[in-house]
Amino acid sequence: MIQCKICNREIQLIISFGKMPIANGFLNAEDFHQEYFFELACGFCEHCKTFQLLHQPDRSQMFHEQYAFYTATSKHMSEHFEVMALNYIQHWLVTQKDPFVVELGSNDGTMLKHFTKRGIRHLGIEASQNVAEIAKKNGVETKCCFFNDTTAKEIQQSYGKADLISVANVHFSNMGEVARGIALLLKDDGIFVFENPYIGNVIQNVAYDQIYDEHSFIFGLNSVSYIFGCEELDVFHVETQETHGGSMRYYLCHKGAHNKRSSVTELLHQENDVLCLNRMEIYRTFAKNCERQKQELVALLKKLKAEGKSVVGYAATAKSTTVLNYCGMGPELIPCIYDTTPIKQGKYSPGMHIPIKPYTIDWYKKVDCAILFAWNHAKEIFDKESEFTKNGGQWILSTSCLQ
Ligand code: TMP
Ligand code: ZN
Repeated sequence: MIQCKICNREIQLIISFGKMPIANGFLNAEDFHQEYFFELACGFCEHCKTFQLLHQPDRSQMFHEQYAFYTATSKHMSEHFEVMALNYIQHWLVTQKDPFVVELGSNDGTMLKHFTKRGIRHLGIEASQNVAEIAKKNGVETKCCFFNDTTAKEIQQSYGKADLISVANVHFSNMGEVARGIALLLKDDGIFVFENPYIGNVIQNVAYDQIYDEHSFIFGLNSVSYIFGCEELDVFHVETQETHGGSMRYYLCHKGAHNKRSSVTELLHQENDVLCLNRMEIYRTFAKNCERQKQELVALLKKLKAEGKSVVGYAATAKSTTVLNYCGMGPELIPCIYDTTPIKQGKYSPGMHIPIKPYTIDWYKKVDCAILFAWNHAKEIFDKESEFTKNGGQWILSTSCLQ
């Protein structure tokens, strides 16, 4: 029997994407023989309504001193976090005396640096040493550790309770401990903001590449209410966000501390009565759609190859690892992937071992088709790469999300 990671009840398999490496595990050729794999399989719990991975890889495999994701590499995400920080200051912190802000999964400090600049007390919690060091260099106070109820107590003892706790796109495998830690660390009238890719968008757009090791759970309002409700934290407001192909920002507080807004009842109606995200059948259909998309994408790339077209990958995203390994597409179909992140360049993609080449401004000169793995940044990229399409180049989307 497989147990739900949230409520411990029995959970059913929805889909297995097969043997999968760590999504951000870009590697050198000499390390191919010791690559780590786990089975990427998902289930949906009908009790707590949480869509989740059934097998968790060891978290030290994911977050370490070689972690390959830097928030600041995306201009779009940097802007998003600046708007988020300013929103916190203007709407939630302006009335507080000497406020204290905590961010979990603070990465390179892209969000918190806006508090540093303004002299607002803050602390970032980041498990990966290399990104935490960059944050510290930028003047962002950062503690390198995993967050749980024990760390929450330590923070409280050193800094006091938090007026605001922010968590964006951080996917914890120990949700129960995290929820307990947040309830402990949050002031009585404090605000906890939780933002991540929204299950409604993943299901509707068949964006199965949002499913990878770091995304242990893909949340909706039902599951967020259940998980934090166990610690007497309540969702009092929600806002949709465009990031990551469609995200949801949940505002939570200690029960009754803030008035519940209509946005919450509206989203609940949407989830349960319109999108039917509380029902198993929706997830069974999703599994069939994933399989169909895989077949279509592989058929398209084989056809392009037979026609002698030159195809490359654009942006070696974490998401691409799920697509490439699930579809079984390696260098024979996609000879290389261009990427702007120095730590990935010269390495190989996890599992399928496609060479990652440094992005250059004329990358597209001999390219007929580019498969866009960073489809969540499509607008930014299409604008930047207008020369590619002007020269007759064609974009292929790795999932059907934008078609
Ligand atoms: P992520 O989707 O896993 O966050 O990774 C984004 C990757 O995409 C990162 O390695 C940088 C790369 N990238 C480009 O190469 N070009 C771009 O224009 C953008 C937006 C991202
Ligand atoms: Zn459950």
